Amino acid sequence: MAKQRVLSGIQPSGKLTLGNYIGAMKNFVALQHEHDCFFMVVDLHAITVPQEPAALREQSEAVAALFVAAGLDPAQASIFMQSHVPAHAELGWLLTTMTYMGELERMTQFKDKSEGKDAVGAGLFVYPSLMAADILLYNSNLVPVGDDQKQHLELTRDLAGRFNYRYGETFVIPEPFIPKVGARIMSLDDGTKKMSKSSPNVGSFIALLDSPDEIRKKISRAKTDLGREIIYDVQNKPEVSNLMTIFAQCSGQTLEQVQTTYDGQGYGAFKKDLAEVVVQALEPLQNKYADIRSSGEIHHILREGAERASTVAEITLREVKEAMGFLPRAH
Ligand code: TYM
Repeated sequence: MAKQRVLSGIQPSGKLTLGNYIGAMKNFVALQHEHDCFFMVVDLHAITVPQEPAALREQSEAVAALFVAAGLDPAQASIFMQSHVPAHAELGWLLTTMTYMGELERMTQFKDKSEGKDAVGAGLFVYPSLMAADILLYNSNLVPVGDDQKQHLELTRDLAGRFNYRYGETFVIPEPFIPKVGARIMSLDDGTKKMSKSSPNVGSFIALLDSPDEIRKKISRAKTDLGREIIYDVQNKPEVSNLMTIFAQCSGQTLEQVQTTYDGQGYGAFKKDLAEVVVQALEPLQNKYADIRSSGEIHHILREGAERASTVAEITLREVKEAMGFLPRAH
């Protein structure tokens, strides 16, 4: 059987968090050996909200380096910047013309990010069409993402089907690949909100590059539910359930194992151990990150990744334009 194509992306819009790692990056690493993988830093998506140029540049390089530090092997997976492959912006436009306003208005990410703002860029609104282009350009079969991207994936599938119906079989219909445990890591200060890298409260998330002491401090201050039992019950104990999920994902244990180990113990002992589990899980990534940044090798990795990605993306784009009736350029 031919290898399945896998694609995903992460925005360079802040410090990557444990949520990004557990919900997405960990699966990027797991999938790379068996599949034909493309992972990108989606800088064109990041500018749908204002970005300071120097910060965007730094964050873009940081996210690419974190991909490698987390265990992605550039010999196995193509790692690249979205803006280095112009086909993304071009197919994004073509698909925007086929996306209905009503579909975009229903997107919860747009509603959340635009809420209460007077000036909302049009890019934020058409963001899902660009994301669909990212995925469809590579004829991706699997898209590893966290739970919050499910709705965008649904729209991508709808757009692929619409295009195929109108212009003939062109795109593969992709499937989301969402982890069973850890698809939605919650904020440390509110177990009903997603852990987010753009949160103004730095105590609400663990950044992948937080020092061991910062991690210990954040976990010891993390909100816990009333009562003292360590029980996995998302409805009634959202905060403790979230911490148990983090424990399970960082230690490789199941939720049941975590619950059994801490049966009868209080929050104090559990949180202390959790902090050490997280510190240990992040230690290899943090050490490798420092080496990658200082070596400067990321520029070479990104150049090679963009070359491989462009080769695939340009073929798809040519087929799409031909199917839509664009006059080919003579050679
Ligand atoms: P972004 O940059 O917000 O997040 C990157 C990935 O991390 C996952 N994630 C989480 N998973 C679990 N718990 C959390 N608290 C958490 N926070 C974030 C996200 O689900 C995502 O998988 N639109 C995308 C980027 C994108 C993309 C693509 C993804 C652009 N084009 C094409 C896949 C394919 C986004 O904003 O992710």
